[in-house]
Amino acid sequence: MTQPRGILILDFGGQYTQLIARRVRECGVYSAVLPCSASIDCIRQEQPLGIILSGGPASVLDEGAPTVDLEVFSLGVPVLGICYGMQLMAHVHGGVIERGLQREYGRTLVSMDETGSGLLQGMKSESTCWMSHTWQVTKLPAGFETVAHTPNCPVAAMSDPSRQLYGVQFHPEVTHSEEGTKLLQNFLLNICHAPADWTMEAYAERTIARIRQQVGDGTVLLGLSGGVDSAVAAALLYRAIGKRLTCVYVDHGFMRSGESEQVIDVFTKTFPVELKTVDASDRFFAALRGVTEPEMKRKIIGREFVEVFRQVSSDLGKRDHFAQGTIYPDVIESGSIKGSAVIKSHHNVGGLPGELGFTSLVEPLRMLFKDEVRKLGLKLGLPENLVCRQPFPGPGLAIRVIGELTPEKVQIVRDSDRIVREEIEAAGVKASQYFTVLTGAKSVGVMGDERTYAYAVAIRAVTTDDFMTADVARLPWELIDRISARIIGEVSGCNRVLYDVTTKPPASIEWE
Ligand code: XMP
Repeated sequence: MTQPRGILILDFGGQYTQLIARRVRECGVYSAVLPCSASIDCIRQEQPLGIILSGGPASVLDEGAPTVDLEVFSLGVPVLGICYGMQLMAHVHGGVIERGLQREYGRTLVSMDETGSGLLQGMKSESTCWMSHTWQVTKLPAGFETVAHTPNCPVAAMSDPSRQLYGVQFHPEVTHSEEGTKLLQNFLLNICHAPADWTMEAYAERTIARIRQQVGDGTVLLGLSGGVDSAVAAALLYRAIGKRLTCVYVDHGFMRSGESEQVIDVFTKTFPVELKTVDASDRFFAALRGVTEPEMKRKIIGREFVEVFRQVSSDLGKRDHFAQGTIYPDVIESGSIKGSAVIKSHHNVGGLPGELGFTSLVEPLRMLFKDEVRKLGLKLGLPENLVCRQPFPGPGLAIRVIGELTPEKVQIVRDSDRIVREEIEAAGVKASQYFTVLTGAKSVGVMGDERTYAYAVAIRAVTTDDFMTADVARLPWELIDRISARIIGEVSGCNRVLYDVTTKPPASIEWE
């Protein structure tokens, strides 16, 4: 297969690096990300049509600040530096970087001084951009000119068209930069002349080729969680290596209504992998008896998972590699990227393969955001009702029951979750994720002249693109009324329904 040619992004540890890759792909241009420390040979091998230097948390003046092989600037392909990337470009070409008098953060009106051609072609003379910087270029290197500024930032964008070097202090990749896509398109299509022919089919093809290369003649074990990500990973692996893929589906007892049946159906009929299903619910409930602390629940579920896998894999006989459907938000939120904090431990990210003695870890979705994973799943031929269903956390309904877990409490969330899903889907209302939570609270009520003392269930419904931030879905009141009436009428053990109106941040999407 010929290597696709596109844009190479060199990562300086910025929080938006993958977002740059995604925006480039959204413009139809292939993109790859390498660490800024990549050797020039490695960079050449990618045969990039253009290079983007990402942002990053350091100051270029720091001792040991990250840099690049300076040959990057003389490969004969255009280079765009974003934030730290621009400061580095200026610094190594003899410009001056200084601490700004006033730190700029957030939406900022930027004066675009040169919109006739080049990087800012066709942009408005004043455009709202996302800024986040302390340091800035105060003196341009020779050969460069200023093409944008703000009252506090004399060089908000710079360019040297003769050497095809460009820099922006703001972040065009962030949606708050209103004309960010235009700027990226100018760079990708007009300056780099990159072909806008990148498609999800091409991504699938390339990833399948990579899997074949990584796995060789080996066999792979994959844990199906019942969620979208592991299903798409399994479909991709099935396309790559067929029956050499064994999928293990562990029913921990915290699955949604109808979920186990659907997973088993798809992976025996549409993608007939070697499928091993295990009902381990008794074991999980036993291990979680008396546990109320969310992180402890996650850890125990993770530990039990590893244990069940260990048993299943030794029963199955040796498999060489271990695959999982880790996606980009999992990678960031698990703190595997330098500088990011651990918010919640996700049991599907971790030392499982090492512990279980697998040769390597296959994570074909590691660079994709959720919406990209869904597109890929559809392209691979997974059924729409599986691919487009909302994501579901590895620990399942266990983290939607606040307090100690019992089969009865889990049944309350399972039944109320089914009602929420049925009603929202029947109403055709758009929301990215919706479910119920069994709050730990019990309250007094009356039902048929009887006093009740039962659980309060909360409805959680959010809209989001990438699950890293989320807004509350504005469900119509009639719909909430209907859901509430059905939950009270059909689910025993609950006498009150609440609606969670908190965005992420400050709350997370799940309650635990
Ligand atoms: P939070 O609650 O962190 O959720 O805002 C963000 C997204 O991740 C899902 N989630 C998980 N997914 N394993 C997973 O695979 C987990 O342990 C886990 N915890 C949360 C959550 O449902 C939401 O879509």
